[in-house]
Amino acid sequence: MNGMDVRTLRVELGDRSYPIHIGPALLSRHPELLFDAVRGSQALVLSDANVAPLYLSFVRPGLSARSSAELVIPPGEREKTLDRFAEVMHAFAGMRASRDVTLIALGGGVVGDLGGFAAACWMRGVRFVQVPTTLLAMVDSSVGGKTAVDLPEGKNLVGAFHQPSAVIIDTDTLSTLPDRELRAGLAEVVKYGAIFDAAFFAWLEAHAESLLHRDAAALAEAIERSCRHKADVVARDETEQGDRALLNFGHTFGHAIETLGGYELVLHGEAVAIGMVCAARLSARSGRAPAADTERLVSLLRRLGLPTDTPGHLDRHALLDAMRLDKKNRSGALRLILWNGIGAARIVDGVGDGDVLKAFDA
Ligand code: NAD
Ligand code: GLY
Repeated sequence: MNGMDVRTLRVELGDRSYPIHIGPALLSRHPELLFDAVRGSQALVLSDANVAPLYLSFVRPGLSARSSAELVIPPGEREKTLDRFAEVMHAFAGMRASRDVTLIALGGGVVGDLGGFAAACWMRGVRFVQVPTTLLAMVDSSVGGKTAVDLPEGKNLVGAFHQPSAVIIDTDTLSTLPDRELRAGLAEVVKYGAIFDAAFFAWLEAHAESLLHRDAAALAEAIERSCRHKADVVARDETEQGDRALLNFGHTFGHAIETLGGYELVLHGEAVAIGMVCAARLSARSGRAPAADTERLVSLLRRLGLPTDTPGHLDRHALLDAMRLDKKNRSGALRLILWNGIGAARIVDGVGDGDVLKAFDA
């Protein structure tokens, strides 16, 4: 990433390929990026009550001359529901939205996942643009077209693959992101190093403090390297028939922790941090990976201010039960993402319940 420049990566998916624009002050300096991504004469902007007062005014210039509506939902994971999905459908209906409407998801992964799913369903699919404003959404959820809402029974159980038409990452929006949310996003950044890229993991070890202190160059590099990994794996395996599943490292454990915690005990990124440690521990105990790599992972996550222990009060058998509803499972058998060490994640079937239960604890 170079000074004030806009960097553009691409997710290569044939005639559904799309750009990921990354840079500071993109919304104010480059309204044409949003303008060009929106087709048709109508736009619906979906945002949440924390983000809308800060950034809605930045997207309006990019919508000039379009008839646009705005829907602002309360913030937080507990809003990623079928009820909120219905609200977006009614917002489309209320503006008499036709098939060429574009939805703009302005916010974190909650708004992005909900908005993307709504765009996948309105009139069987309309365009949408991701404008992520959390680090987690910039490096992961805004890219790749996984859209969903949660059920009380489990995370992301109702959803669709529906690719955005563009991703516009204005890195300046991170300036208002609370520290805890920044750290949660760093968990997904660590994930790319853990599963694909030992050199990136080592880079993160060397730059942990700069990232925590929001050094602009370090954050920009982390975002770009993460998006490059995400774009590559999505291009290879859009619908997760193969190695896209590796992106779920830590997620089967983590989703169970989020579900049992009622979607408010831990943030998604925090749950992923704990889940990655569980997966690394299971890998080491089953002889697949060096225990020293678990220690490096725990140490990096702790330096980044992330939790690494499963909350003590969550019942381990109930967590295992929640893991059985994971989308990767086949014919009732658990499929986990483990690793052979840093940078080398693997899909593993047939792990015994006893080993999974033990992995929750050191
Ligand atoms: P989030 O959307 O809840 O945002 C976190 C909090 O930060 C919210 O309170 C929000 O209002 C606030 N916020 C957002 N941007 C801000 C800003 N710039 N300044 C101040 N406050 C701001 O959570 P998230 O961590 O962005 O996303 C988590 C969700 O993403 C989960 O539901 C997870 O399942 C999903 N996810 C999806 C994918 C995918 O591939 N689709 C990948 C990873 C995660
Ligand atoms: N975040 C997991 C995926 O996009 O596949």
